[in-house]
Amino acid sequence: MQYGAFNVNNMEIIQAIVDAAAEENSPVILQASSSAIKYARINYLRKMVEAATEDTSIPIALHLDHGPDFETCKMCIDNGFTSVMIDGSKYDFEENVALTKKVVDYAHSKGVVVEAELGKLAGVEDEVNVSDKDAMYTDPDQAKEFVERTGCDSLAIAIGTSHGAYKFKGEAKLRFDILAKVKEKLPNTPIVLHGASTVIPELVEMCNKYGADIPGAKGVPDEMLNEASKSGVSKINVDTDLRLAMTAAIRKVFAEEPSAFDPRKYMTPARDLIKQTVQHKIRDVFCSSNKA
Ligand code: G3H
Ligand code: 13P
Ligand code: ZN
Repeated sequence: MQYGAFNVNNMEIIQAIVDAAAEENSPVILQASSSAIKYARINYLRKMVEAATEDTSIPIALHLDHGPDFETCKMCIDNGFTSVMIDGSKYDFEENVALTKKVVDYAHSKGVVVEAELGKLAGVEDEVNVSDKDAMYTDPDQAKEFVERTGCDSLAIAIGTSHGAYKFKGEAKLRFDILAKVKEKLPNTPIVLHGASTVIPELVEMCNKYGADIPGAKGVPDEMLNEASKSGVSKINVDTDLRLAMTAAIRKVFAEEPSAFDPRKYMTPARDLIKQTVQHKIRDVFCSSNKA
């Protein structure tokens, strides 16, 4: 089973994701990055997620996405987050181990679980040659050592995905061989896939139709996400597809109704399109729906 972890920045996004998950009777992970926390403010995020949990009976996790340092992880743990990610992937192996272990020790003392990252997610815009690119993928032996030494609860790995709307120049390609080796070494550690938006072509087209300039965007096809799920990926991170849905819906209203200026006029279709997008993923791609 694979669960979607969806990035949240405001009330409408939270409501859309939770409504979609509730309709599918699926547990869901809401995750906030440190820039989302700066934008929305931690107490607002916490209270809105609390409201969402009161509103529905599905299990909802509140997770810190890409925690940059110990202090941010501690702030989230102290503010009721159910899990945190410490992203030490920018550091060398030993520094990543030390930082992750420090976060794990604190988090576990408070009953909070920790996702860590090993390997680097490269974007198509990153100037890397083939051997540099190879060095960015997660090394399965190192992954085993990393998990054993840090005690982290789940591990994000690099197998060819990247953040944002431009993931591949040519054909989409993921290193399922590396994923298989990691699973062989770490059969009981949940594996996380970042940069897993499909960059849904219909949403990109809709954005562009109504005035956006997002040419050549490309993401991870649904079939590959499905294969990742069957190969042991437990958590799939999605942000870009939600951003595209929101932008497409708002642009449509602005283009078709230039006189509209009531925010509810464009935030309502935006919320609806995010909900539809999340529901499709839960039901048709991640197969985490428990709909009777
Ligand atoms: O992994 C990155 C997520 O899409 C969050 O992005 O830092 O702009 O909120 P952000
Ligand atoms: P996308 O940019 O592919 O949506 O990835 C989001 C992500 O990994 C958040 O941590
Ligand atoms: Zn990510």
